[in-house]
Amino acid sequence: MDFSAKMLRDNALAGKVIVVTGGGSGLGKSMTKYFLELGAKVAITSRDLDKLKTTASELSEQTGSECLPVQCDVRYIDQVEAMHQSVLAHFGKVDVLLNNAAGNFISPTERLSANAFDTVIDIVLKGSKNCTLTFGKHWIETGQINTVILNIVTTYATTGSAFVVPSATAKAGVLAMTRSLAVEWAKYGIRNNAIAPGPFPTKGAWDRLLPGDLQKKLDPAQKVPLRRVGDHQELANLAAYLVSDFAAYLNGEVVTIDGGEWLEGAGEFNFLGRYVTKEMWDMMEAMVKAKKG
Ligand code: HXC
Ligand code: NAP
Repeated sequence: MDFSAKMLRDNALAGKVIVVTGGGSGLGKSMTKYFLELGAKVAITSRDLDKLKTTASELSEQTGSECLPVQCDVRYIDQVEAMHQSVLAHFGKVDVLLNNAAGNFISPTERLSANAFDTVIDIVLKGSKNCTLTFGKHWIETGQINTVILNIVTTYATTGSAFVVPSATAKAGVLAMTRSLAVEWAKYGIRNNAIAPGPFPTKGAWDRLLPGDLQKKLDPAQKVPLRRVGDHQELANLAAYLVSDFAAYLNGEVVTIDGGEWLEGAGEFNFLGRYVTKEMWDMMEAMVKAKKG
């Protein structure tokens, strides 16, 4: 099966202008590439302008669509407002905000300084808030409808997770914002949705969440019932659908794309599937049946 097959028809996003925060690398870059292939114009933003410029020219060349690099640290509202104005000045409008930028690292929580905790909260929660407020206010003030905010969270936005507590706390806040604004801003024609990805290999995530030997010792695919990690195109397909007009009735949803990973960890007896062989099942069935009467 080809997990990297592209889902939507040609030009499915033609006429749309999309802003992808953290679009210079990783999943943001992969989603940007597919949006461009589908005919959208995309502005990518992050702290590192050189990286953005390299990505933008690479993707514009590959896809033939326009990709605009704009430097912006989402933690600072003045930079977000300036980025928004730059995109408006260049493309004339924005239809979609994709809050994808994130910061994260593994650490026992008691080892974190207040600043370490703040740093992740500021990028993920405050950054998504800064962009959402800036873009949303503009859409409301100008009366532009059929606009979309798509937030990239994680499966542990719902479950929580040890050792990434600032990220879990911040992503849970982003998910709450998604669901809250889905209702509050629907009357302005703004849809709010989220994607909760499981493991999709990227340098940014793997270097910080599986540092050093962990990458060799812990194979993330083994935690997934489908026994594989995600392909970037699978996420890009979902994101393209959610920002497209095909998803016009989808509002306030969080779509999990993790091969069943979080459920495997949650189900009381799921672990049996890993350890119990057919012979052991035969033996246990006989033992349990023997208890009858
Ligand atoms: C403890 C740490 C730390 C670590 C940083 N700090 N790394 N504390 N353990 N491993 C502390 C620092 O000591 C400092 O606190 C504070 O955090 C800020 O660190 P800086 O390096 O000054 O911050 P900054 O340069 O702003 O960089 C932000 C960052 C960095 C988050 C720390 O990793 C980054 O730029 N990340 C962006 C990309 C990223 O994280 N991608 C992964 C996304 S994956 P003090 O008190 O010393 O000043 C993801 C989902 C994963 O989100 C789900 C997978 C299934
Ligand atoms: P990544 O490549 O490290 O992406 C993070 C991006 O955020 C980078 O491009 C980074 O660019 C940008 N960024 C960080 N701090 C920023 C700031 N203050 N202002 C603006 N941009 C900032 O990692 P990724 O794996 O692709 O992650 C993308 C998204 O997917 C994140 O929301 C992450 O939480 C989510 N996610 C990933 C996985 C996975 O398995 N990979 C799983 C679940 C969820 P600069 O450094 O240039 O600023």
